[in-house]
Amino acid sequence: MNEILVKKNLTPVTKLIVVKNPFVAAKAEPGQFVILRVRENGERIPLTIADFDREKDTVTLVFQEVGLSTILLGKLEVGDRILNLVGPLGVPAELPDSGTVVAVGGGVGVAPILPKCKELYRRGVKVISIIGARSKDLIILEDEMRACSHELHICTDDGSRGFKGFVSDKLKELIDGGLKCDEVVAVGPIPMMRATCETTRPYGLKTWVSMNPIMVDGTGMCGACRITVGGKTKFVCVDGPMFDGHEVDWAEAWLRAGMYRDEEKVAVESCQCGGGK
Ligand code: FAD
Ligand code: FES
Ligand code: MG
Repeated sequence: MNEILVKKNLTPVTKLIVVKNPFVAAKAEPGQFVILRVRENGERIPLTIADFDREKDTVTLVFQEVGLSTILLGKLEVGDRILNLVGPLGVPAELPDSGTVVAVGGGVGVAPILPKCKELYRRGVKVISIIGARSKDLIILEDEMRACSHELHICTDDGSRGFKGFVSDKLKELIDGGLKCDEVVAVGPIPMMRATCETTRPYGLKTWVSMNPIMVDGTGMCGACRITVGGKTKFVCVDGPMFDGHEVDWAEAWLRAGMYRDEEKVAVESCQCGGGK
């Protein structure tokens, strides 16, 4: 159980692992996630189920090495086991059966958007995807996204590939150019999802986002993942992770995501894991 069967480096800081876990593979749906621990005294970290295979009993995780736990996870090799992994957690994404959906993925957010696009495409929904990263070397899962999109747009902040600018700028260009769509799904860092929502708000275009607050238990008991949506408190682990982005209190979500930044920096610098260089 939890053995790593495949490991790929997608970019210098992004890794894909395929993990054996028949229980999670049997129940996983697009939009759900797992919580795992790499070592006995380690923290729990949530990662989205980027893909699953019920016949092979596997789940695919794609993660960016941003701090201690993801650096340690990235050090595990094929044949190693993840100490604990629970899931699937969260509510499966509510996906339409017809119409046109624009899927917007920023950075490692392309991984969580992939299973949604696959399912939409399978249902016969028209999928227009916009994926982006800081530069061309950081674009991930391009072929996989192309395979489940009717149109794929690539954006880079530095213009090294495709459209020069943010994914939200590309979305605005498409909408202003007459794009007709029923809803938008955006997954990525908070500033990217927030900018996408501000782009679609004037058009009244329904926009779903996948929130990624700090989580601890993942079962709705600790309150760590609290956000405010439409003036009401929501726990992302049990009420989400997908929410109507026009209703999210982004300023609060941003503040809470950075609550432990100093401690996270110290954790990397003081470990012998090769981080903090
Ligand atoms: P740290 O240095 O500890 O933290 C870096 C930043 O990550 C923090 O500032 C904080 O914003 C966030 N973070 C820290 N601890 C946690 C925690 N326990 N829970 C959530 N966020 C935390 N990342 C991916 O690369 N791929 C994914 O598929 C993915 N899916 C996610 C799905 C959900 C539902 C959520 C909530 C988060 C997801 N994340 C994903 C983010 C991932 O959990 C964090 O990057 C990871 O926990 C960072 O841990 P760290 O110790 O390496 O970094
Ligand atoms: Fe504890 Fe959501 S992670 S309530
Ligand atoms: Mg951490």
